[in-house]
Parts: sequence; C-alpha cells; structure tokens
Amino acid sequence: MISLAALILFSLTSFSNCKEYTFPDNFKFGVATSAYQVEGAWNVGGKGENIWDYMTHTNPSSILDKSNGDIACDSYNKIKEDVQLLKNLGVDFYRFSISWSRILPSGKTEYINPDGIRYYNELIDELLANNIEPLVTMHHFDLPQPLEEEGGFLNLAIADYFEDYADVLYKNFGDRVKEWTTFNEPTPVCFLGYSGEFLAPMITRKDGGYLCGRTLLIAHAKAYHLYNKRYRASQKGRIGIVHNIFWFEPRTNSIKDLQAAEAANEFNFGWFANPIFSKEGDYPQIMKGSIEYASKQEGLPKSRLPELTQEEIELIKGSADFLGINHYTTFYCSPIEEEGIGKGLFYLPDMDANCVMDEKADGSASFWLKVIPSGFRNSLNWIKEQYNNPEEQYNNPEVIILENGISDDGNLLNDCLRVNYNNLYLTEMLKAIHEDGCNVSGYAAWSFMDNFEWTSGYTQKFGLYSVDFDDPARPRTPKMSAFVFKNIIQERKINWTYTPEGFGKCDGPKLKDEL
Ligand code: NOJ
Repeated sequence: MISLAALILFSLTSFSNCKEYTFPDNFKFGVATSAYQVEGAWNVGGKGENIWDYMTHTNPSSILDKSNGDIACDSYNKIKEDVQLLKNLGVDFYRFSISWSRILPSGKTEYINPDGIRYYNELIDELLANNIEPLVTMHHFDLPQPLEEEGGFLNLAIADYFEDYADVLYKNFGDRVKEWTTFNEPTPVCFLGYSGEFLAPMITRKDGGYLCGRTLLIAHAKAYHLYNKRYRASQKGRIGIVHNIFWFEPRTNSIKDLQAAEAANEFNFGWFANPIFSKEGDYPQIMKGSIEYASKQEGLPKSRLPELTQEEIELIKGSADFLGINHYTTFYCSPIEEEGIGKGLFYLPDMDANCVMDEKADGSASFWLKVIPSGFRNSLNWIKEQYNNPEEQYNNPEVIILENGISDDGNLLNDCLRVNYNNLYLTEMLKAIHEDGCNVSGYAAWSFMDNFEWTSGYTQKFGLYSVDFDDPARPRTPKMSAFVFKNIIQERKINWTYTPEGFGKCDGPKLKDEL
C-alpha cells in the first residue's frame, strides 16, 4: 500500500513540475470590471436609468446591504488614476463594459449622449496612451430601463435596438477598440433575471429565461453581422461573446451522474455556446429534448423553449471570432430524483440534474464559490472537445478567459485566499494549454478592484485593489494579490515562493486536489 508520505511526496513533485510552465509569448494578461459595478455617476452627464438603477432605488431590499451603484468606485471620475494603476500592474488589456444608458439614455438612437461618448473616448485614449488595449463589453447586465419597460429581453425588438446601439459603438470607438464582446454571461442574464430572483429585472416567468435567450442570441448575431458588413474591412477588429462556464462534474462515476453532469454543462454553457460554436448550430439536443418533455408533462401545447428557425440558426452559427469565458467554480451532479442529496445550489428547471457544492472544499465570501482548480482545466478541455470541428471555422475555438477570481469580505490586504486561488487556477490553465492543447490566448482577473457585487452589494470583494467605500474619495490600495499578479505578468510563470515586500508569507494552498 502506498504510504501517505509517498503520496504527499508524489503530489508535491507533480505540483512543483507544473509550476515550471511559462505563459506563451503572445499570451495576454488583463483585469476586468463592468460599468454598473464601478462607474458610479448614475445620473451624471445625461446618463439614463438602467435596470439596476431602477431596481436598487425602488426596491433597496433586493440588495443584501441595501446599497447601490450610484457612486460605486467612482471610476467615472478617476480615469487617469485608474489607468496609472493598470499601467503599474503591467497588464496588456483592460476589460471594461460600456453603459448602454450612458450612450443612449432611452436605449434607442433617437438621442446620443455627448457626455457618454466623451467619457469612453477619454478612457480609451488614456488606455492606449499607456499601451493598454481596451477589451470592451457592450452589455454587462445593465439594460436601459426604458427598454425593460417594453418587455426587456422578452421582447424580440430588443435585438434590433441592440444592433443600433452596437452601430453607435463601432462608429464612435471602433477606430481604436479592436476587441469587442457583445454580451456578458447570457445564462445568468436570462435565467436569473427573467426566470429567477437573483438579478434585475427579477422577473419570474418559467419561460422567461428561454424567451430572453432567443432575443439575446439574435441580438448578438445581428451585432456581429453588422460589424462584418460595415466595419470589419476598415476597423479590422474582432467580435466575441462572454459565456460563464461553471463546471459540472458527476457526483459519482455512475452513468446517471455522468448524464446529469453533461446535462448541466449543456444547460448552463451549451445553451449559448452551441448555437454559435458548434458545427450544426442550434440549442443542444439534450436541452431541446428535456424542455419539450417537461412541457408535454405539464400539458403545454408546445415546448417552453421557443424554437429557432432555420434562418435564425444560420444567422447565429459561427457569429464570433473568439469565445470569452468566465470561470469560477465547480459543482457535482446527480439526477433530480436521487435521494438523500438535498436540493443543490445549482438547478435549472427542466434539467434533470441536481448539482451540489463540495462542502469540504475551501470557500469564499460568495455562497456559490468554492476553490476547485481542476474544474478550470476540465472546462477548457470540454470546450476543446465539444467544439472541435476540423473542417469548420471553429476548430478548437480561441478562448480568452475574461473573468476568474475569488471573493472575501475585504478585510485583509494580505489576501492569501486570492493569491492561492489565482496561482492554483492559473496552474490548471497552464496545464490545459501545455499538456492538453487548449487554445487559450489571454486571461483577465476578476476584478481590477472591489466593487458592487450585484444583489450582494458591497459584502463580497473580488478586487486586486481594495476600495474604501466609506471615504468619498474612494481611495484604492493594492492588496498582496495585485503584487503577485504583477509578478506573474513580469516573470511569465507562477512563482509560489514570491512574497511582495511588506506582506506576510502565505501558507500556500492545501493541495487538496492532488492528495
Ligand atoms: C460574473 C459577472 O460577470 C461579474 O459581474 C460578477 O461580479 C462576477 N461574476 C462575480 O460574481
């Protein structure tokens, strides 16, 4: 029998081997934020109201600490200061989002707000002057409220308004912005916003998520084709989309658990990735089948999932130059009827899977986020296998990690939890690149700085920089993780022994996965 000591030695050896991997020469590093979470200035300079302004003001109790993004990190007033911090960090790119309501207060192009154009011009120019590429997301959860009043993403007309908005962005910023993403995290936008109570506008229609999903996919594809038609030749940029990929593992090796995990991956990720990145397009088969079956059982005349027409399937298929992903954590799945597991945290109606967290894994300040680094590598491999169509445009699509990070309560500048998380997850990503041939070209840490964490308000902090939200000047202070990230960018590898000056040494991770 192998002794525990031998096992530990083996783990440590294999672990230390991994850390030798370096980041490929053309691999890019960045940090990420989103407009509502950092900008503040919610009604300044002619900005219109969005669904988060509306929800936090009319229903403050929907936010854990009853806070809002009225001021947030005040990034609207801190372009120069923030860009200097980014420069100091050494990042290649900054992922931020544009507030639709700051550009188009009513959501429509009848009035283009000059101050909105000015603000983003200044930000983009300041970044470029400091050699930092802007990577811009057009929609990060913050739909203009007037469009919500027309039904929001339940209304297919929103797809046209989004295309018009994208046109304004390409026209005004496309000479300098070369990396665009249309939507951030469609699954939460639709499932948690239109079939749940976790994100604005908190509509709870059983078919809401699916209706929203159709609008969002069509909106994305329209913005992509518009770029091809009018801008690609002259601006030479790229259009992607950002999907969140929670990773779902089978709880045991049984076939039923394997099937449950696969269903969960398809419902969560395939829902929006399959129509764009698969050879055949359209929603994943398993999703179509399960929703149709559940709808029939309920006596509905047709499936709750609105079908995509052949024309829509073709419009959406292949409509991205790269795949942005946000990855944080892993869940373990069994079929719903499995007894004794209890209702898991992750469960989409219609999906025959009940997914629970590993209660023994290290946690965070977010109830849904446990430290399970291996899930990152598995997600990247799944993407590579799933969308591997040698004769198609998408043969092992280029993936850019656009969010990865962990929350704490923000009390510590010596944020070892974050340092260890980042080192462990980046190590898994390096294995995926070097050992598995996954096509990953960049990584953005979430987040540049502590910010408004949606319905959790300011109770969960993901930043490399801490922000003092009690001080009107919103001063930023680098945490240990900022220095460690800077060192990773400089050394182009993970250095487990690096401790920045003035910080206490971290104990190092538990190596839980390896043991
Ligand atoms: C994903 C979202 O895109 C981002 O806005 C959020 O803050 C992080 N996850 C952390 O929950």
